Amino acid sequence: MKVLVTGGAGFIGSNFVFHMLKAHPDYDIVCLDALTYAGNLSTLAPVMKEGNFSFVKGDITDRALIMDLFAKEKFDYVVNFAAESHVDRSIEDPGVFLRTNILGTQVLLDASRVYGVKRFHQVSTDEVYGDLPLDRPDLFFTEETPIKTSSPYSASKASADLLVEAYHRTFKVPVTISRCSNNYGPYQFPEKLIPLIISRALKNETLPVYGKGENVRDWLHVDDHCAAIDLILHQGKEGEVYNIGGHNEKTNLEVVKTILKELGKPESLITFVKDRAGHDMRYAIDPSKTRRELNWEPTILFNEGIKETVKWYLEHNEWLEEIISGDYREYYQKFYEGKDGEA
Ligand code: NAD
Ligand code: TYD
Repeated sequence: MKVLVTGGAGFIGSNFVFHMLKAHPDYDIVCLDALTYAGNLSTLAPVMKEGNFSFVKGDITDRALIMDLFAKEKFDYVVNFAAESHVDRSIEDPGVFLRTNILGTQVLLDASRVYGVKRFHQVSTDEVYGDLPLDRPDLFFTEETPIKTSSPYSASKASADLLVEAYHRTFKVPVTISRCSNNYGPYQFPEKLIPLIISRALKNETLPVYGKGENVRDWLHVDDHCAAIDLILHQGKEGEVYNIGGHNEKTNLEVVKTILKELGKPESLITFVKDRAGHDMRYAIDPSKTRRELNWEPTILFNEGIKETVKWYLEHNEWLEEIISGDYREYYQKFYEGKDGEA
């Protein structure tokens, strides 16, 4: 089997590459990534020389490149992680979100349609459902919850989901969609809450918490997300949406305080800053369909997973520093010096 993983130099995509190489050593994995600011090729360094792994630098909106790649590789499975993924950036500059997240998905769907694949899997997000009120802890997002987006990011992801469903219905492309809650774990770009707090706290810098820190996110360890996608890819029903989450709801303030405790740093570093525009209050996933139909269970409890994650960032401080200093951008040049853009 040959699998295309787009966005595999980012946070979840890289963890998925590692998962697939371990879980399916007989598969060939091709990672395509544009290496935007969020893509870090050095993350993939441990597998770059594996015989059944190859990396292609390319943009999912580049139709000619994508068509050529599909013609050459004849993929069985496509898993699309490639996206602009940071809500705050989408508020500053929505354009690139629409280009990559919507038009890029369309290009991949067209290629999947022309060349035929066993499955096109779209990695979506619970943010397409909008948010839930804080005073209704009985409410959860199910796969039937209407799409109602808040940010340009979530609007672009929802648009992509609708396109994926349209290509299934109209052109019979065999698709699945997963909508997962907030992920945490190794290799997350330190502009997102958890790695940002860890990296700033380590330097005794102020920790920006938006508004009052009351917003709730439903945290899932990235390994549990990757295992769920693997199951959906192989056993999920064509045309279906699967919610992924582990009922780990925490306020942002709780998360920040947990990290500080783990690092032995004072809560006085916390600084409340201006709230994010349109800030979603609460995300909470009902994953019962995925549990019931695919026998998926999250395996990592938040209290343990966050400890391990903090430890990971402490042990990989050079990975964080490389990003903060911008040096990670040079890795591609170093790795590919004298090569033609493909490994
Ligand atoms: P990320 O920002 O860490 O990684 C995105 C990757 O996509 C980067 O390697 C980047 O270089 C690449 N990329 C961006 N534009 C590209 C383009 N035009 N062509 C090719 N590659 C491109 O994101 P992440 O947190 O790993 O998220 C991956 C996917 O999972 C996204 O689709 C996101 O919407 C979804 N998701 C994320 C979370 C979360 O908590 N992080 C939760 C649910 C769903
Ligand atoms: P983030 O990691 O950006 O994920 P998302 O917005 O997709 O949920 O943010 C998680 C939560 O943390 C969100 O409610 C916004 C908040 N937040 C802060 O309070 N301070 C920060 O510096 C960041 C980046 C996020």
